Amino acid sequence: MCGIVGYVGPRVAQDFLLEGLQRLEYRGYDSAGIVTIDGDLEFDIHREVGRIKKLAQLVNERPSSSGIGIGHTRWATHGAPSIRNAHPHIGGEGELVLAHNGVIENYDELKNRLLKRGYTFHSETDTEVIANLIAECLKNRRSKAADEDRDDPQLALDALKEALSQLRGTYGLVVLFKDWPETIFAARLGSPLVIGIGDGENFVASDASPLVGYTDRIVYLSDNQVAVVNANGIEVSHRDLGLIQHDVKELQMDLTSVDLAGYDHYMLKEIFEQPAALRNTLRGRLNDDDATAVLGGLNLTPNQMRRIKRVIFTACGTSWHSALVGEYMMEEIAQIPTEVEYASELRYRNPPMCENTLVFAITQSGETADTLAALREMKRKGHRTLAICNVVGSSIAQEAEGGIYLHAGPEIGVASTKAYTSQCVALAMLALHFGRLRHLGYADGRAIIEQIRAVPDAVEQALKTNDRVAEIAAKYKDCQNFLYLGRHFNFPTALEGALKLKEISYIHAEGYPAAEMKHGPIALVDKKTPSVFVMPKGFIYDKVMSNLEEIKARGGPVIAVAAEGDRRIEKVADDVIFIPPVQEFLQPIVSIIPLQLLAYHIAVLRGCDVDKPRNLAKSVTVE
Ligand code: F6R
Repeated sequence: MCGIVGYVGPRVAQDFLLEGLQRLEYRGYDSAGIVTIDGDLEFDIHREVGRIKKLAQLVNERPSSSGIGIGHTRWATHGAPSIRNAHPHIGGEGELVLAHNGVIENYDELKNRLLKRGYTFHSETDTEVIANLIAECLKNRRSKAADEDRDDPQLALDALKEALSQLRGTYGLVVLFKDWPETIFAARLGSPLVIGIGDGENFVASDASPLVGYTDRIVYLSDNQVAVVNANGIEVSHRDLGLIQHDVKELQMDLTSVDLAGYDHYMLKEIFEQPAALRNTLRGRLNDDDATAVLGGLNLTPNQMRRIKRVIFTACGTSWHSALVGEYMMEEIAQIPTEVEYASELRYRNPPMCENTLVFAITQSGETADTLAALREMKRKGHRTLAICNVVGSSIAQEAEGGIYLHAGPEIGVASTKAYTSQCVALAMLALHFGRLRHLGYADGRAIIEQIRAVPDAVEQALKTNDRVAEIAAKYKDCQNFLYLGRHFNFPTALEGALKLKEISYIHAEGYPAAEMKHGPIALVDKKTPSVFVMPKGFIYDKVMSNLEEIKARGGPVIAVAAEGDRRIEKVADDVIFIPPVQEFLQPIVSIIPLQLLAYHIAVLRGCDVDKPRNLAKSVTVE
């Protein structure tokens, strides 16, 4: 959703801010702005609705060589996308400017109080309330301070902390004060912020991607931490306590992970990165000697794991689909009762307590507000909470008591692709790990390891369907409705295939278990509604074939994703995409590849903005 950047040092701040905002574009936004402090100690603010390119044109009309500034991309929550609602916002009579990610729940109450004290508001945002509140706290503190303390930066820090303690909601924010023009103040509660440590310069951002190529030393702020960032150093303190020793971590990203590397879109690049992403998720985790997966990050002893009676996977969207795949794997391989819950529902439900339940939040970004809230609620109930997460240092990664990092590399395209397949392979390892601690013998464990190991190559083969899928996309691109059907391990694939198509091409698509068709949805079948059958060979194949015949008998066109060598399917389906065979529990990882490609090509042919689909944001940090 919204994005933040900040810079202080010898470079031209505007250049870093604009480039940084461009790298954050993938998060989704509708307006943007930057501010620098010019030589006369005035704030030089530029704000624009629409793309960063437009903002850059505006900035180029009035360039500044200032070495300090902050910038923001806004995804509208309070107030429509407009220049006056775009950040940064001015506080008080111009004492400070501020950019903010998150939502302030008590902004109305605070705004009324500030209005009574004579503050004026120029936007409909909750952010301007924070800016004025800090100005008010600063004014009060200044009036009480001794003359010699009035210019002490501690005054600004204390005013900021006092204002933050009155906020209810979430924030990741950066502030510049006119009277301390060499410092960026940054704070976080529930919305991520990182600080990049340079030599004689420092950076702030809402995620690490703007920092790549500038520094590989990074500090992840935690909730309730406030940072004072100057060119030559940073200081981190707790909002209500004193100074904190901050850990500097190494940033594991390079420029190739944040640029297009010759692809037309990030989504296509990430689809093709899947063999490498899967290898990275697996790296060092398959142990032949013990015939198991090594998942040290779970932070559980073998005995604790043997006592687990129930597993809950909670997630949203695509991650929820990988959770479904995980449910089937856990039942089949580990034989542990497993439930999958939408995080947005779980957070407000009160499921009966069951001893020895393990809860996994599955999330690419680690910032999804509902998933974080569900994790917290489960923790409150006393369950052990773990995460399967891609973004190192993200909120969920920090709050979970352990878990599995995907190491799939940054996912920039809004439609999740490589994170999904990496989640599925991580879940396969989880099932193997639990299975081996219970009923699964050595030989079975070894066989599963070999099957998992074969997956990245199979995905590489499946990517060779790209040209064939592009032809099929051209044939069906004008259809207004699609059905996606699969059974057993490929029922989640049908859901995920349908989600991919609808989110980037805006075509209505439904995923169903193939046999459910007879119970209602078959009424939708007609000549203009293609059904995409996901039916690689397996024990359920004949049953799915019968479901396919039912659709054909009613005149519906059929596109099938089937296993290489399947001659029967060619006779009945209108179009077939062949994928390499893999073990059934791993089929979802391979069968989703042509469906990702199908969604991509249809969206491109329809002229849609694949990497920035309308109304969507990369990480959904609001409820
Ligand atoms: C769809 C998509 C979303 C996310 C969902 C959860 O392509 O990307 O449905 O899967 O918003 O996001 P994470 O996994 O970051 O929690």
